[in-house]
Amino acid sequence: MSETPRHSRRDLLRVGAAGGAAFAGGLLLPGTARAAAPRPTALDTPPLPTPRSDRTAGSALRPFGRHLAFGADPSRQVVVSWQVPDAVTAPFVRIGLRPGDFGAPVAAEVRTLVSKLAWQHPVEDQPLIKPTTVTQYYLHARVDQLIPDTTYYYVVGHQGLDPAGQGGRLGDVASFRTAPAPGRGAGFTFTAFGDQGIGYNAAATGNLIAGLDPAFHLHMGDLSYANSGGSGKTGDAYDARLWDSFFVQNDPVAARTPWMVAVGNHEMEPWYGPDGYGGVRARFTMPDNAWSQSTGIYSWRYQNVGLISLDGNDVCFNTPANLDYTKGKQKKWLDSRLAELRADPGIDFIVVYLHQCTYSTCHDNGAELGAQQDWAPLFDKYQVDLVLSGHNHVYERTDPIRAGKATRKVASGDTVNPVKDGTTYVVAGGGGGGLYTFPASDTYLGHETRNDAPVPMVVSNRSGHEQTVKVGWSRVRYTGYCLVAVDVTPASGGAPARMEVRSVTEDGTAVDRVTVQRG
Ligand SMILES: [Fe+2]
Ligand SMILES: [Fe+2]
Repeated sequence: MSETPRHSRRDLLRVGAAGGAAFAGGLLLPGTARAAAPRPTALDTPPLPTPRSDRTAGSALRPFGRHLAFGADPSRQVVVSWQVPDAVTAPFVRIGLRPGDFGAPVAAEVRTLVSKLAWQHPVEDQPLIKPTTVTQYYLHARVDQLIPDTTYYYVVGHQGLDPAGQGGRLGDVASFRTAPAPGRGAGFTFTAFGDQGIGYNAAATGNLIAGLDPAFHLHMGDLSYANSGGSGKTGDAYDARLWDSFFVQNDPVAARTPWMVAVGNHEMEPWYGPDGYGGVRARFTMPDNAWSQSTGIYSWRYQNVGLISLDGNDVCFNTPANLDYTKGKQKKWLDSRLAELRADPGIDFIVVYLHQCTYSTCHDNGAELGAQQDWAPLFDKYQVDLVLSGHNHVYERTDPIRAGKATRKVASGDTVNPVKDGTTYVVAGGGGGGLYTFPASDTYLGHETRNDAPVPMVVSNRSGHEQTVKVGWSRVRYTGYCLVAVDVTPASGGAPARMEVRSVTEDGTAVDRVTVQRG
């Protein structure tokens, strides 16, 4: 980590004002600061006129499940999100450049999510009798105009509980680091996995993130499995309270490392609105820079890497609850966004992340013909460097692919040039939520099976009919829990920019390693 720049207290207060003003309007456009607007803060908000006698005092309600996200400009924009167990008044975040020296409160937006138990086909053996609803209170504070490449400390609270004052505990303080200004960074690491769930394997992969201390983590969907059915239909088993466990589990990591999430099929919770994403919208705040408030569809950049999150449910023939729900808008937006990123001289690499697998030989969920038909030609056209997905609960890396075919064999330890070779596709669905199997034997770093025979890939067509075809690009297969760590190094001294892509298991063993280098 680099040194913390020196800034005046005035800078800090300006941060608070911008964040508060942004909330006053209910939305935050990247780079927008409405300094002239009234400045709502926790202190401005009047107390409840007549406290209910049965309401728990604010001092007894502990925030939990903190998780961070970057805005579209991670050098200046961060969203702090958390949960409280009951309704609170005037929730806020205070941030500062030193622990114990926090700025003015920045008001948080409250998103209250009410889930009727009648929706909730019990996940556990015993159905709930009381209460008849589950009410969850999600809080989100957007802070912008932050200083690039700077570590900030923060606490979250509400009326009756201000961890910056009396009663605050050391553990209440968390920190995050903003990205360097574009063009100024010396390289960084990010991590990625999908299909995490809740449990000891999920905690272990989370701990791996903490150990690697990345600049950010990409979560490729199937987050909590609160909707354990995953079909996006109201017959799915669902327990909204599993989200509480998910956020508690991940707080030690996600409170410090921004998690950028894509939506999986298990995020289609059909009880919350026509597209089923009302729950995701309440729980997460991702950049809102696609054509509409589309939750899992957004793009952003971190130094020399352009990142795009796609919603694979839009093209999923296997689980068609949201098939074609964007009516082609996502594909159109992807085309234009890829063109912009590829034309940007400050962008070396384009990384696309989504839940479903464009290419995979794991048969449990197969590969998505819709993604192959709609998006792979765009990945080819704009020389997308890396596509990360989950959905199949395994690790798999392809040889570089163009027009659906491998261009050359790239073993672990080799280097890919996406300009000449094509796009590398990685399935990293071993985040913790159970494991699937391959029909062919595993083959990974140090355990290569010297069998280059084509292996079967299963795809479903639009009618749901399965088809099996033999493919030759399945280069690395590993059945186990793991994450992907990507070390990005900018061009320097005549050496081209490169990404070192590693797959790391729960015990820290690398099972794959490949270098992606343009030039
Ligand atoms: Fe999954
Ligand atoms: Fe999935």
